[in-house]
Amino acid sequence: MQEIENACQILAAGGLVAFPTETVYGLGADACNEHAIRKIFAVKGRPLNHPLIVHLASENDLPIFAREIPEIAWQIVKEFWPGPLTIVLKKTNHVSSLITGGQNTIALRCPSHPKAQHLLKAFGSGIVAPSANRFTHLSPTSALDVRSELGDDVDYIIDGGRCSLGLESTIINLVDETPQLLRPGMISIDKLAKFLGRSIESDQGNKIKAPGMHKKHYAPRTKTSLLKHEEIISFIAKLSHDQVLTVAAILYNDISLDHKIQQIKMPKNPTDYAHQLYHQMRLLDNDAFTQIIIEDVPYTSEWATIRDRLIKATGT
Ligand code: TXA
Ligand code: MG
Repeated sequence: MQEIENACQILAAGGLVAFPTETVYGLGADACNEHAIRKIFAVKGRPLNHPLIVHLASENDLPIFAREIPEIAWQIVKEFWPGPLTIVLKKTNHVSSLITGGQNTIALRCPSHPKAQHLLKAFGSGIVAPSANRFTHLSPTSALDVRSELGDDVDYIIDGGRCSLGLESTIINLVDETPQLLRPGMISIDKLAKFLGRSIESDQGNKIKAPGMHKKHYAPRTKTSLLKHEEIISFIAKLSHDQVLTVAAILYNDISLDHKIQQIKMPKNPTDYAHQLYHQMRLLDNDAFTQIIIEDVPYTSEWATIRDRLIKATGT
């Protein structure tokens, strides 16, 4: 495929290539080229101590980047790769500390999107890729989103359509004896624990282990608030006639609001909701609204990843 060939040439020359994964679009660079990796931090405006995920074509490449790989890591990748799961292991000596934010651990993931697979196989080496957005902004879920986010700062974009999942991968730390969840994702902690037959520590927000996990993240630029059903009703009741036109609502329940308010009714099932969330937030963010209100979702485990992103998007 011509586009994969072009992408490989640009990566090999130290350029940046955005590519689709099943979670969100990544901003890729050759994991062995420090100059290219520096460009990623510059384009994103990301602090240098926020480590990057290295993407691999298959688990066979794990030993290139990770050492002392525990048996549990092999079990996990055999079950869940390729797929939306990132594992953190001890890094090998030759891995640049630019990738790992100076830590001695490395995050690795093998994405399942056919074009990501094709690219990784053709490139034949690891590709570092954070989500292809400016620092703290929403992750892009289409090629168009990437272009609107990064403009000409990205050298090439592989268009793989809308991302099927729409939220970033689950991250699990396998360096210590007990596995720790660093970022929830569509592969749930329950599913991982069940597969392993053991418990997993939930360690979200640990600043040392996952430096990218600060409070405000994955956020629209428009002021965004997370409100419960009744709070939405009373919030809207207080708006003036003109203010009503400047507010957009992302709703879980069938609430009937003033029809002048822009309303997005979200799917009731978490998989479809996740697929829509960043897409809808971005559409509203690109519009002229002064405030986005999002209705809270159920507090059950199947909604935990979505709630995590809603809390981060709203700085709640
Ligand atoms: O779904 C995804 O994971 C997407 C696609 C493109 O693969 N990538 C992604 O990358 O979300 P990024 O850079 O936006 O988020 C990666 C997160 C960082 O915020 C950081 O917390 C964590 O991964 N991370 C990376 N290396 C780590 C390490 N050595 N130890 C702990 N956490 C690490
Ligand atoms: Mg990101």
